[in-house]
Amino acid sequence: MNSKNEIYAIILAAGSGSRLAKHIDIKKQFINYKNNPLWWQSVLTFYNSPKIKGIVLVFPPQDDEYLVACEKAKKLHAHHNLAIPFYYTKGGESRFDSVYEGLKKLPSNCDFVLIHDSARPFFSANLQEKLISVLQEHMISAVIPSLEVTDTIKLVETVSSQNIMKKMEKMEKVEKTLVRKQLRAIQTPQAFNKSELLFAHENIRKNPISGLEITDDAMLMELSGFTVFTIQGEANNIKITNQKDLELLETKTVKIPCNGYGYDVHKFGGDRPFVLGGVNIPTKLTIQAHSDGDVLIHALIDALLSCLCLGDIGTLFPDTDPKYENISSLILLDKVMTIWKQHKLELCHVDLTVITQSPKISPHANEIKKNIARLLEVNLDMINVKATTEEKLGFTGQKLGIKAVALVSALKSV
Ligand code: CTP
Ligand code: MG
Repeated sequence: MNSKNEIYAIILAAGSGSRLAKHIDIKKQFINYKNNPLWWQSVLTFYNSPKIKGIVLVFPPQDDEYLVACEKAKKLHAHHNLAIPFYYTKGGESRFDSVYEGLKKLPSNCDFVLIHDSARPFFSANLQEKLISVLQEHMISAVIPSLEVTDTIKLVETVSSQNIMKKMEKMEKVEKTLVRKQLRAIQTPQAFNKSELLFAHENIRKNPISGLEITDDAMLMELSGFTVFTIQGEANNIKITNQKDLELLETKTVKIPCNGYGYDVHKFGGDRPFVLGGVNIPTKLTIQAHSDGDVLIHALIDALLSCLCLGDIGTLFPDTDPKYENISSLILLDKVMTIWKQHKLELCHVDLTVITQSPKISPHANEIKKNIARLLEVNLDMINVKATTEEKLGFTGQKLGIKAVALVSALKSV
């Protein structure tokens, strides 16, 4: 055995997807899944294991499809900056032929190989790790994932339609019932000693068994006298085969909660009128600010931008830019709400607190609340506006300025 024990993967994506052909206008391995062709998902899972030294991609033999698929693979490889090489080859007429073409592309330092159907995008990195470690630790020829079967399985023979009652399209005659507890449903990836698998392929090519359909590589190994072992497969490692399986590729979005916190301070004594939440507050106190000095809207904008992970108000509207001089905070909020809608966040709750010694805010809290609800286009019961003093302590206590904090809660689709 080679001392380096290099492992490569072969991803089969050369089939014609005939069972799905009447439901989709694309071969199943190229269905868009998470914004990329389906076979890419298998690349990503293999790439999770640092033990995989390279991946052979087997694409359809038709020139046009092959070229398009290779181009896409090269682009994705570059875009994701993958640290392992891709090798490309055209598949053959049967899966068995496609695997053989893939095997021929493996570099000479390859000792072990994982053969995988791109139509099984859901296998886990954990499964591949287990296969690799079992293969290497036990120094065996082949190990494959299997599941116990839950249905009773029978051997049948098709009965020709002349022999049966009219109207009944298709009947089969049961030959015998197989012993369920001895049966296993087999999945990919399947892990092999590469030279032994190559031998098994060449052996069956030299000594073909007429009428025998080779449906997986482990079967070839069995036919050549190698012992194949199984380990526990994964229930959701399903092969996309029939129309109902397509539902599994519909990516489900989940909503996760997120919170954004905003905080702002303004000095008293400038030339700006006292505006809070877009509401004019009757007081002799004035605000110093570059913009209109609405401390509450500024805190709210920061909280909204936090939910969007977009920095803060200064990032979007720099106070060094003269176009924002004296600008109404409501215009800024309007711009932020346009961005908010593009991100499709679902606003859940807004908690606003004004901290000032003077003037008294509570008589205006309801009007502020109504105004904010209107600006954010949400119901009143999603907004709370409250105010507090700092008991004459600090700069608010000394009536040097005002501060506001905002907490926005939202649901984010991921
Ligand atoms: N495959 C392949 N070359 C072939 C046939 C199959 O590379 N000549 C690949 C398929 O792309 C798939 C995997 O082997 O990833 C498993 O085969 P299967 O699910 O049977 O896919 P298809 O043969 O494409 O589908 P169908 O049998 O419905 O025509
Ligand atoms: Mg097939």
